[in-house]
Amino acid sequence: MSFFSRFFKKETSVLGIDIGSSAIKLVQIRKKRGRAVLQTYGELALGPYGGLEIGRSVALPPEKLVEALKDILRESKTTTVNCGTALPLSASLITFITIPPVPDKQVGDIVSIEARKYIPVPLSEVLLDYSIIPKEESYASEDEKAKAEKLGRDVLVVAIHNDFINQYQSVMMSGGLQPGFYEIEIFSSIRALTDQGVGTSMIFDMGSRSTKLYIIEHGALRSSHIVSKGSQDITLALSKALSITVAEAESMKRNYGLKGGPEYKELTEIITVNLDYIFYEANSALLAYQKKYAKNVSRIILTGGGVQLKGFTDLAKISFQTEIKYADPFTRLEAPAILADEFSHIGPEFTVAIGAALRRLSEIE
Ligand SMILES: Nc1ncnc2c1ncn2[C@@H]1O[C@H](COP(=O)(O)OP(=O)(O)OP(=O)(O)O)[C@@H](O)[C@H]1O
Ligand SMILES: [Mg+2]
Repeated sequence: MSFFSRFFKKETSVLGIDIGSSAIKLVQIRKKRGRAVLQTYGELALGPYGGLEIGRSVALPPEKLVEALKDILRESKTTTVNCGTALPLSASLITFITIPPVPDKQVGDIVSIEARKYIPVPLSEVLLDYSIIPKEESYASEDEKAKAEKLGRDVLVVAIHNDFINQYQSVMMSGGLQPGFYEIEIFSSIRALTDQGVGTSMIFDMGSRSTKLYIIEHGALRSSHIVSKGSQDITLALSKALSITVAEAESMKRNYGLKGGPEYKELTEIITVNLDYIFYEANSALLAYQKKYAKNVSRIILTGGGVQLKGFTDLAKISFQTEIKYADPFTRLEAPAILADEFSHIGPEFTVAIGAALRRLSEIE
């Protein structure tokens, strides 16, 4: 390899970082002839850094998080510090507001006035971001478009506390990284999973601590919910009901999932009860949205480590009256064909990291 190509390669590589409540996930990609090429990826369980089992959610002090970050960077053999970082949904406040029909350049001012009503702390303490929600993708005429806009404009407002961003920034810097941006994980997921214009879909992100539900219309976020039950709750329920350690329960869950057969009837039952609860909540959110906006949610995209459970997709298919899709964000990247099977399976865990990396890559062009 010539010096120039090595230099070139290094300069165009970026990382996407997702610090979840139970694991850090990262991907490194670079640009090649207009395509994003996968260079390396990695995942590291955080539980053990806080004296807990793999798969458990944990709130780590900053120095432990830095240690974990350094470990995953080393283990994944990353070669760049240039990154995009996703922030947990729980760190943000998301609201949808309708403002009067004003020109684009006045939207910012109106949003900061209106946002005061919804944000419980002084605006000087938060990072405020907004985006105007596109009405419909097409109108019969310019007249109709103008008429629709007269009714007001729907705006998505996102606030994140400055203290939270500062904490993240200091962890990133201590880990030796240079974040180009921070964004709430929702937006990373949307980027990795949907192409603009695919109608209305629900992203179902089952993590360790919670399950996050986002309704997306034409690529824009329209609604979000958090169900405070995640894959960790299945493990804890199994450990309790079967009187086994949390570590044993975790490996039983991962090894057999819903496919243990008659020998593992109890396992199947406990998992099913927990998933039924989450599916019920998701169905309610979906139906409420459909009713409110008179729109059909045409598919559910399953993402997050929890959906990798064996038999999960089959159960989802009978629990929802909607097309079910298992997230496959690696298809957005060029990667060795020999690993395609592996990637189509582990995709859900890397959705957020891939989405963050894709944004960073588009920014450095
Ligand atoms: N093969 C598998 N079968 C069942 N569960 C799995 C499997 N692989 C991972 N999980 C579960 O997925 C969870 C981790 O998923 P993920 O990495 O998306 O969570 P997270 O991002 O850390 O959590 P959160 O989004 O709630 O903060 C763990 O609870 C783990 O037990
Ligand atoms: Mg997550």
